[in-house]
Amino acid sequence: MARAFVYVILGGGVAAGYAALEFSRRGISHGELCIISEESVAPYERPALSKGYLLPEAPARLPYFHTCVGAGEQRLTPEWYKEHGIELILETTVKSANVKQKTLTTENGETISYRTLIIATGARALKLEEFGVRGSNAEKVCYLRNLNDADRLVDVMKSCVGGNAVVIGGGYIGMECTAALVTNRIKVTMVFPGAHCMVRLFTQKIASFYEGYYESKGVKFIKGTVVTSFENDSEGKVTAVILKDGTRLPTDMVVVGIGSRANTSLFEDQLTIEKGGIKVNNLMQTSNSSVYAVGDVAAFPVKLFNGDTRRLEHVDSARKTARHAVAAIMGPRNTSDLDYVPFFYSRVFTLAWQFYGDNIGDVVHYGDFTKGKFGAYWVNKGRVVGAFLEGGAKEEYEAIARVVKLKATVKGKDVVEGQGIDFALRA
Ligand code: FDA
Ligand code: NAD
Repeated sequence: MARAFVYVILGGGVAAGYAALEFSRRGISHGELCIISEESVAPYERPALSKGYLLPEAPARLPYFHTCVGAGEQRLTPEWYKEHGIELILETTVKSANVKQKTLTTENGETISYRTLIIATGARALKLEEFGVRGSNAEKVCYLRNLNDADRLVDVMKSCVGGNAVVIGGGYIGMECTAALVTNRIKVTMVFPGAHCMVRLFTQKIASFYEGYYESKGVKFIKGTVVTSFENDSEGKVTAVILKDGTRLPTDMVVVGIGSRANTSLFEDQLTIEKGGIKVNNLMQTSNSSVYAVGDVAAFPVKLFNGDTRRLEHVDSARKTARHAVAAIMGPRNTSDLDYVPFFYSRVFTLAWQFYGDNIGDVVHYGDFTKGKFGAYWVNKGRVVGAFLEGGAKEEYEAIARVVKLKATVKGKDVVEGQGIDFALRA
């Protein structure tokens, strides 16, 4: 079987949904665009999976978090795609690609050809087996990347209420899933190799606040070590986690969040790869001019960082790079360069933080860490390059984004420290 489309989006995640909306706004004819996804549902806001989806009361469920509600836009239900003549080819894995012939081949042997391809294959969760630890396929050991994983995690949590969980990894998944487990009345021990949680972004001082808050909820931390094996019962269900120093942690369930890898494998011998992603220019175009890459899989030049190539694994960049690629594909030849300010955020328990920019240079902390209203500026060569804020109001978050975009000049670190959030509000 063979089918042909003008535009093909490979991957049906966040970026695919935002790209589809942009295509429809710019005007495409019925039958010109398809989305191929190995998932069984239309694109949805993936961040919901580690937050609202895991709540014990009134959890978020589809169709309520289909894209593009996360950015306050229309909710694109399966009916929307039908009405707009956009074909959703779901539960279909693409097994090979040929960018010279402009074809994709699915696991069923179907060939789908395109004039323009957008690669939006996102990333996958790293498995413990990739670090030489066996046994993470045991029952009640959970990863979290897609809806199926989230459903499984919900079922496992339900079976462990009142029991114990070990969370392996102290990054985004580890922190957000621990909060969800506690809310589901499961006692958590977090294990990770770093000196503190969220080691890629937080300073020790910022991390101490969150760790203290988690400890007040009964969470235990075991830092600076890794898991080496699991123990299972006769039915293959996990019963304990063994650490490098031999410590045995009896448990009813495990959640693993040890990082992710971009899904580049279909294109590695055909397109330029950089920083673990598919390298694109400032129009999101790859080394083949008919192929674009967006979202987690794309390594793109960040103008704010003097064109330095970055691969960002965050929802805001998936949304914006997707829209920008479609603008470049369908818009005038002189589509302006993407002018992006990297933006990360998280919400756990009643806490919420946002970060903009880059975490390089010297750090100036400010605010009241005891009251949960604090922040930090990262200052490089006398200018603000990054800003973090916990517990901010809308206009304060907008202000820290602005201060980073402006690369505000810092006259003295003590001045900024004294002014705190006012430094951003006045910029
Ligand atoms: P995404 O992973 O969304 O989609 C990729 C799609 O491609 C999937 O549908 C996949 O099945 C499909 N695919 C891959 N290979 C394929 C193939 N060969 N054939 C067919 N289909 C294929 N970020 C943030 O800023 N704030 C947050 O709070 C969160 N929270 C969060 C929670 C959880 C649980 C996760 C896993 C991630 C987050 N993120 C986040 C990160 C954010 O969700 C992520 O950056 C975006 O989903 C990236 O969007 P993409 O479309 O690039 O990939
Ligand atoms: P991460 O990179 O944030 O954290 C990985 C953690 O695992 C770190 O604490 C690291 O020290 C630890 N680790 C690494 N190797 C290990 C090993 N062998 N054993 C034990 N621990 C190990 O990755 P993640 O938390 O798995 O998140 C996966 C993806 O999901 C990322 O792309 C992330 O951006 C995305 N995500 C984002 C959000 C958000 O932005 N709020 C929320 C959830 C997920």
